[in-house]
Amino acid sequence: MRIVSGIQPTGNLHLGNYLGAIRNWVAMQDDMVNTGGEAFYFLADLHAISQPHVPAQLSANTREMTAALVACGVDPDKATLFNQTQVPAHAELQWLLNGTARMGWLSRMTQFKDKAGKNRDSVSVALYTYPVLQAADVLLYQATHVPVGEDQKQHLELARDIAQKFNNDFAPRDENGEAAPVFTLPEPIIPPEAARIMSLRDGASKMSKSDPSDLSRINLTDDADTIMSKIKKAKSDADALPSEPAGLDGRAEARNLVGIYAAMSGQSVAQILADFGGKGFGAFKPALGELLVDKLAPINARFVALRQDRDALDAILRKGAAKARAAAAPTLAAAYDALGLVR
Ligand code: TYM
Repeated sequence: MRIVSGIQPTGNLHLGNYLGAIRNWVAMQDDMVNTGGEAFYFLADLHAISQPHVPAQLSANTREMTAALVACGVDPDKATLFNQTQVPAHAELQWLLNGTARMGWLSRMTQFKDKAGKNRDSVSVALYTYPVLQAADVLLYQATHVPVGEDQKQHLELARDIAQKFNNDFAPRDENGEAAPVFTLPEPIIPPEAARIMSLRDGASKMSKSDPSDLSRINLTDDADTIMSKIKKAKSDADALPSEPAGLDGRAEARNLVGIYAAMSGQSVAQILADFGGKGFGAFKPALGELLVDKLAPINARFVALRQDRDALDAILRKGAAKARAAAAPTLAAAYDALGLVR
């Protein structure tokens, strides 16, 4: 197995990233050590320039996000941890795949439609071709599995379509006419219980770094008081919690808060409701706040210590990038050759 995944170093790591993806990164990195597979995790800093950004903030965020990932348990000795920029093969393969990706495929990407809104003519070309870079990110390493939240599923399907078309059109054939595929088709791994953590202010939109209200998300850098106060201010409703999961239908905010409790405690939604059914949010919210504080405090403490050490963070990224460059080289070379480009 080859596990590959990335995160944009824009803003803070939040609970949605953690429960939707990073927790799985840590679990899978350990599985890879035990089964002889490999895990590659990266800061998608090249993706981050697809939207307006402040250069000094991007470099600071890249180091902060590295510290946050290590604080969550990503271990640079078990997984290859790096930033895209230090592995130019990502940008090179994107260009090669631009010849295969179709305009219609990219036009159907819901994330592009959401982010561009009505202003399609004024967003960057990079925002449009962003999913092709994402395809390059995973295909470059022959990824078999990609741990992500639900919102990245469509991008992964596109990566498979691009890989399949490239293999069909360009895979070299042996003397018996058998094609040797250039790329592996990657499978997404989406956690069933925390695939989509929603905003604390609006149960209909996902928890996101780009939400202007900081009250909408729990950041992994929030201290105990901030976490408690955000949970107490979280949107809920006036009814008591139901005793069965079906009773959460039509109650988006209640479903989200109970789902966060379940994901964080490792219990099922049914178990949580067996305990809290009949109780109101006046009882549930303090319990959820305490659970979050308890689980996030050690991560927060490690993060605060690590973020100071810029040299150590740069060394982690340099070492990871050297390993990633070596791992990427054979596939990039095969893609150039398949296309008939003289090297
Ligand atoms: P990004 O930086 O937005 O998010 C990083 C990871 O966190 C997951 N996630 C969530 N999961 C559950 N609930 C939420 N509210 C939530 N918000 C974010 C995302 O699904 C993701 O797994 N384009 C990607 C980065 C990327 C990438 C890749 C991922 C670039 N290349 C290659 C996988 C493979 C992104 O912007 O994720």
